[in-house]
Amino acid sequence: MPYPYASRKKNPAIPFYPSPIDVVRLMLNVAEPKEGQVLVDLGCGDGRVLVEAATNYGSSVVGVESNPWLASYAYNKLLEKGIKNFKIVKGDLFEFNFSSADIITLYLTHDALKILKPRLESYIKPRTKLVAHDFPIPGWRPIAIESIISVEDGKLHKVYLYDADKSFNNVGRQKRYIIQDGEIWRKAGHGIHRVLKIRGYAHEGGEEA
Ligand SMILES: C[S@@+](CC[C@H](N)C(=O)[O-])C[C@H]1O[C@@H](n2cnc3c(N)ncnc32)[C@H](O)[C@@H]1O
Repeated sequence: MPYPYASRKKNPAIPFYPSPIDVVRLMLNVAEPKEGQVLVDLGCGDGRVLVEAATNYGSSVVGVESNPWLASYAYNKLLEKGIKNFKIVKGDLFEFNFSSADIITLYLTHDALKILKPRLESYIKPRTKLVAHDFPIPGWRPIAIESIISVEDGKLHKVYLYDADKSFNNVGRQKRYIIQDGEIWRKAGHGIHRVLKIRGYAHEGGEEA
């Protein structure tokens, strides 16, 4: 069974370009994290989104960062701030399993989001909120767009809010399950796992279920 993302050869370059703090605050303000919810920043840079979310909203935070120096910097900063519920993953955001996230923050590039999009559509759980800074997720419908002129750089920034249940066609979610030889297989990470053997078929309103 070919894995749908296995053919990707090279990651697109995504530079470290930190979100100004007032933009970070706007991102979190529109996402409205609830205490204890899991917030994942894909490409967390120096960890500023994580610090704000943990400190001001009581989020449990996870940062994924491929640059080892930045990953260590973010780790130390969170420790220094006395934040307990955090994890910094030194690794590739395109391989990361974000299915436990309640909120995902993104400050990536158009090319990176294009590659990440099918993975998001397949693996985010229902009701996940996503917030993208300046680069919208191609083809998705934001449920809100906010703008701010940052006092840090004097530039206009945009923040796009998405909802896993409303912002894209959920066909991708159904594709997580494959029926093959009377068995149901679930796609997960890099493989598929058998979850059920079909014993019979049910019919509801004339439809096979
Ligand atoms: C534009 S910065 C955003 C930083 C932070 N999220 C913020 O808003 O301030 C993008 C970050 O993604 C990181 N990055 C680039 N490619 C990555 C990859 N394949 N996996 C994980 N992190 C990556 C970069 O090192 C950089 O820190």
